[in-house]
Amino acid sequence: MTDSTQKSILELRREYTRGSLDLQDLAQDPIEQFHKWFQEAHTSLVNDPIAMTLSTVSHEGQPSSRIVLLRGADSQGFRFYTNYTSHKAQDLAANPRAGLSFFWSELDRQILIEGTVQKLTEEESKQYFSTRPRGNQLSAWASDQSKAVASREELERVFEKYENQFPDEIPKPEFWGGYLVTPIRIEFWQGRASRLHDRFLYTREATSWKISRLAP
Ligand SMILES: Cc1cc2nc3c(=O)[nH]c(=O)nc-3n(C[C@H](O)[C@H](O)[C@H](O)COP(=O)(O)O)c2cc1C
Repeated sequence: MTDSTQKSILELRREYTRGSLDLQDLAQDPIEQFHKWFQEAHTSLVNDPIAMTLSTVSHEGQPSSRIVLLRGADSQGFRFYTNYTSHKAQDLAANPRAGLSFFWSELDRQILIEGTVQKLTEEESKQYFSTRPRGNQLSAWASDQSKAVASREELERVFEKYENQFPDEIPKPEFWGGYLVTPIRIEFWQGRASRLHDRFLYTREATSWKISRLAP
């Protein structure tokens, strides 16, 4: 690391003062609370509020993380779509558990989700695939996600090949589809001054959710 990068890193420090969170502000149901915060993120023009970090763990216990886009959130859980042969998908096949995290910097808010993961039905994935722009559909075909590729030209050549192969409607590749993360724990974090943040954790009980305040 250069000295100037190191200096810049250390210079960057800010206070989190854009809000507060108390037990009485919280919905009994964390999905309802998620919707409330999501709407606030949306109306506050948070950049990419649907971008979330997905963490998975390999069969050897190696964690890895990457951003994916949230494509649905309801009482069943949180949905995203990807390539079923990718690095993350291999992790999920061996270890069907995941962490999801959102950081909405403009609101000093973080949401952390832990849960179990299952593939969506072919029906649901097909339905969603059919709503994607044509270019995104072609990329799903052209990308052997997470594998080494010889060059940019090679990627574009394969993309064009599928463009010619599918002049009209593009079917969903069978190696592409969605996952549902069913939450077990959901934490809502609101940054506060002097790092004395508000944190509330929902944990799933038999028929309801328990809410605890956590130390920051
Ligand atoms: C803003 C953003 C959104 C992304 N959305 C997705 C997505 O919805 N699905 C996906 O498979 N990859 C998405 N990616 C790419 C992933 O971060 C990642 O590079 C890719 O899925 C391969 O991950 P893996 O090799 O760990 O499986 C997105 C990346 C960014 C930065």
